[in-house]
Amino acid sequence: MIDMSIAPVMRTREYVGTKNVHLLPQTNQLRALHTVIRDRNVRREDFVFYSGRIIRLLIEAGLNLLPFDPCEVETPVGKTYDGLRFASQICGVSVVRAGESMEAGLRAVCGSIRIGKILIQRDKRTKLPHLYYSSLPEDIARRHVLLLDPMLATGGTALAAIQVLLERGVAEEKIIFINLITAPEGIAVVGERHPGVKIVTSSIEERLNENAYMVPGIGDFGDRYFGTDP
Ligand code: PRP
Ligand code: URA
Repeated sequence: MIDMSIAPVMRTREYVGTKNVHLLPQTNQLRALHTVIRDRNVRREDFVFYSGRIIRLLIEAGLNLLPFDPCEVETPVGKTYDGLRFASQICGVSVVRAGESMEAGLRAVCGSIRIGKILIQRDKRTKLPHLYYSSLPEDIARRHVLLLDPMLATGGTALAAIQVLLERGVAEEKIIFINLITAPEGIAVVGERHPGVKIVTSSIEERLNENAYMVPGIGDFGDRYFGTDP
C-alpha cells in the first residue's frame, strides 16, 4: 500500500467540493499514471500513451457534468429500464497547440463530435497569452462546450479562451474546462472571473515557479507531447 503523504491531500481538499472544481479521485492508479508522465526521463511514446489514459478519464468525468433527461427503454426481456440520455448538444474546443493532444480522447467517446480550435500561445518571455486565431462551430452558442487544454498555470490562456467563447454567445455555465494539471493560481483566477465555468482536473499542483511553470509539474506539456523539447 502506498502511504499518501498528508500534505498534498490537505492542499487539494480546500478545492474539492467547491462548486466549479472537479478533481478526479486521487486513486493509486491515477498516481501511477502521473508518475510515468512526470518522470523527466520517460520516453515520448510513453508520455503520449499515459497522458492519453488520464485524458480519457478526464473526458469521461467532464461528460458526467452535462445535463441529462429521463429516457425509458424496453429491455430484451420486456421490462422497462428507467434510463437517461444527454439533454443537450455538445462540442469540443481545443486550445492549440497542447489542447490538440486531448482531441483523440474526446473522439474516442464522442465519435462525430464537432471540434473548434482557438490558437493561443504564451509569450516565452512575458508569459502573457496572445490570441492568433479561432475557428468554432457556427451554432456553438446553443451547445455545451468541452474546452480542452491540459495545462492551467497562470490562467491567462484560459481567460483568453473563455473570452472567445463568451463573445460567441456561449454561457459561462455551459463551459466545462478540462485540464490535466492545474495551479492554484490558475484555478483562483478562472473561479473569480468566471464562477460558472466548471474545471475538471486530475491534479492540483503546489504552485507556480518564477518562470510560471507548475511545480512539481510536468514541464512544457506541448513540447514533450509533440517532441519539440530542446
Ligand atoms: C501552455 C499550455 C496552456 C498554457 C497555460 O501553452 O498548453 O495553453 O501554456 O499557461 P497559462 O495558464 O500560464 O496561460 P503554450 O503557450 O506554452 O503553448 P503550447 O500549447 O504550444 O505548448
Ligand atoms: N505550460 C506548460 O506546458 N507547463 C506549465 O507548467 C505551465 C504552462
